Amino acid sequence: MKEDTLLDESLQKLYSPSDFRKIGHQLIDVLADHLDQVQSQEERPVIKYQDPEEELVYWKADMSSNTDMMDFYQKILDRSIHVHHPRYMGHQVAVPSIISSLSGLVTDLLSNGTGVYEMGMASNALERIVTDFVAQKIGYGSEAAGFLTSGGTLANLTALLAARKAKAPSSVWEEGHNEKLAVLVSEEAHYCIDRAARILGFGAEGIIKIPSNKSYKIDTSLLEEYLENAKNKGLNVIALVGCASSTSTGSYDDLETLASFATNNNLWFHIDGAHGGGVVFSEKYKYLTKGIDKADSVVIDFHKMLLTPALNTALIFKNSEASYKTFEQKAQYLWDSQQSREWYNSGKRTFECTKLMMSLKVYSIIRMYGEDIFEKNMDRLYDLGKVFAKLIKEREGFELLINPEANIVNFRYTDIPSEVINTFNSKIRETLLLSGKFYIVQTMIGEERYLRTSIMNPLTDKEDFIALLDEIQKIAHTLI
Ligand SMILES: Cc1ncc(COP(=O)(O)O)c(C=O)c1O
Repeated sequence: MKEDTLLDESLQKLYSPSDFRKIGHQLIDVLADHLDQVQSQEERPVIKYQDPEEELVYWKADMSSNTDMMDFYQKILDRSIHVHHPRYMGHQVAVPSIISSLSGLVTDLLSNGTGVYEMGMASNALERIVTDFVAQKIGYGSEAAGFLTSGGTLANLTALLAARKAKAPSSVWEEGHNEKLAVLVSEEAHYCIDRAARILGFGAEGIIKIPSNKSYKIDTSLLEEYLENAKNKGLNVIALVGCASSTSTGSYDDLETLASFATNNNLWFHIDGAHGGGVVFSEKYKYLTKGIDKADSVVIDFHKMLLTPALNTALIFKNSEASYKTFEQKAQYLWDSQQSREWYNSGKRTFECTKLMMSLKVYSIIRMYGEDIFEKNMDRLYDLGKVFAKLIKEREGFELLINPEANIVNFRYTDIPSEVINTFNSKIRETLLLSGKFYIVQTMIGEERYLRTSIMNPLTDKEDFIALLDEIQKIAHTLI
């Protein structure tokens, strides 16, 4: 057998600095033009919706088409939704700041795995700075610490794993469950909490959903009763989860009351602030999370309200010790001892082994625009929510679900017989989607269909809301 090997020319090309420079310059130009167009040309669609099967056929054909990469990137742009468009008001995805996206280019080139210190010296140090900054904004003391992880779903799961470690019998990590464990949460919580509890082996019975009040906040007067019922059924309730805010309506649970209840009943208190936890940066809106500093753990997504590309989530613990205990496992090839508390080996505390260099995308925003940029963004988006709600209330034929606390505004068109109101509003949303002029979503509140907007783009303005309501009215008249 021949043991020599020749480097194929195309393998060398994969890493050509001159190709990188040439293609990179071209690509930045394409992206800058794209940004300019989606931000300034209202007639440019937010989305050119395609049927999924047709989309697949299109891309299968692309494989055999020409190899020009700018042509390929342009097609990707044309066939993707544009969160930078001021008329994007759909799901909760941040409109990434340009510096954060450019940092993404750096991190994707360096690809430092970050889980161990040597595989991400800068990114681990920056992660410490960024998470300490968040901990301080939450109002935690010097015992607090956290890390960045890949999304709110994973962060909530990790927090509940830490809760289990802290509150369930200590053998659970080695031997599995010997008793039924459970968690208390609002019925309005994001589905990932339900999913996390099931992944943890709690089963359907172990996710106890407490009804919400008319503001879609957990009804705290029911806590005692639900906890007692659970105990009577033989469940060991280990945690209470608060929403800051909920996904459907952007409602903030009464965190102060939840915190006292958790303390009095020896429960781990976790706050899912994936969406609205960012108000800790805002002097104007931080009252919404009063009591957050009493939580054992808090999740805040940077990729929702805090200007980074997805995914980028902070999970912060009131007591850093708990974060080290979550995964007590040996990994000899990574580090000598799981017991030593090394903040710089972030993989000791995260679900991920190889981890994205998320910290750069946060740090670069703070470095370039200053600490108060998150506050400005939160204030702008929450203020816009109120502006839009007022316009809806003033408009005949429309109904606002509730005065929004956050930037999530639910409403519906009502100038039609009540028996068709749900299907009619769905049809409105579908027509809007196909037109591409705006991107909004829909939700069910009880049995009722509502149009749902999350105002994510600080460049969205009052004129865009007026245009949206005009367009809905026009569609409604056509449909009738
Ligand atoms: C309140 C809340 N928690 C968790 C999540 C899930 O976060 P991610 O999409 O980052 O996994 C969401 C997503 O919308 C959310 O709104």
